Amino acid sequence: MSKVLVTGGSGFIGSHIIDALLEKGHTPIIYDLESPIYDQPCEYVKGDILDLPELLKATNGVDIIYNLAAEANVNIFYENPLKSNQVTSHGVLHVLEAAKINEVKRVILASTEWIYGSTEGDEDEWITEETPYAQNPDHLYTSSKIAAELFVKNYYRLYEVHYTIVRFGIPFGERARAATVTPIFINKILNDETITVHGDGSQTRQFIYVKDLAAGNVACLSEKAENEIFNINGTKKISVLEIIKTLEKKLNKTARINFEEDRPGNFKGRFISSEKAKNILGWEYKYTYEDAMQGYVEWWLERDGH
Ligand SMILES: NC(=O)c1ccc[n+]([C@@H]2O[C@H](COP(=O)([O-])OP(=O)(O)OC[C@H]3O[C@@H](n4cnc5c(N)ncnc54)[C@H](O)[C@@H]3O)[C@@H](O)[C@H]2O)c1
Repeated sequence: MSKVLVTGGSGFIGSHIIDALLEKGHTPIIYDLESPIYDQPCEYVKGDILDLPELLKATNGVDIIYNLAAEANVNIFYENPLKSNQVTSHGVLHVLEAAKINEVKRVILASTEWIYGSTEGDEDEWITEETPYAQNPDHLYTSSKIAAELFVKNYYRLYEVHYTIVRFGIPFGERARAATVTPIFINKILNDETITVHGDGSQTRQFIYVKDLAAGNVACLSEKAENEIFNINGTKKISVLEIIKTLEKKLNKTARINFEEDRPGNFKGRFISSEKAKNILGWEYKYTYEDAMQGYVEWWLERDGH
């Protein structure tokens, strides 16, 4: 069992990784600017990844560091690029430096499918970990995450700091930020508000249930994941209409939908494969989309006192 420090462990995905680590008998430590709010039985260190002395203190004797601390909200990144890049990219150098000095066995970096850039293209053509980085990223967040990945690879080549890069798909589920598509739809259906759908609603996104994502991250503790990159993404593409239909069923309510003209760029997109994680780490999805939504909606209704 490992002693694992999770930067950003108080956040949406980090908190689920903490749960999954505890479940497997590891000893996680949350390292975050914000206090944890989910009552998890583990140590918490209030700290900034940009504070190297504090990070050195917290990572002393730690086996593995998961680095999730970042500016994950691309809108905030757009509004405040200097501060956002400080944590998302420059912050990773601090984590790597701490790992180097304290001889931490491995740094696991939370990256994103955004580093592939546009997934526009033939749905049958799969994106794998071998697919190159976006050559011309259209968002600062993408560039910042690519830089973070490159720093991780540099630290391995130059200083032998071992790594795993995990490229997350778009997660949904318990504790998600309210301003993402599934919670927005849940709120609208519950409050009888109209959902605007562009085109016929057949445009898809490859969502992943946050509990499956957390389990995929914990699977990356395996030595087989050392100095490797893994996509941890959803099992299939879900259309906008499918999200609404599933929620209607789970909430037992009919959604009000207003279909508007399609937006340019509403493409179907290539599929991002997580076969490598399945084949090498034995990571499997535990939840179907239906089951995941069931869990999420139950949590939502319980939280709101329905
Ligand atoms: N949510 C997504 O859609 C998504 C998709 C792909 C990848 N990711 C990546 O996954 C990671 C976690 O994302 P999330 O959605 O859980 O975000 P989140 O905003 O819920 O969590 C991020 C956490 O990092 C902490 N943090 C921020 N700056 C810090 C600093 N300087 N020092 C210490 N802690 C700091 C925050 O307090 C927060 O608790 C991020 O690296 C993000 O880029 C997220």
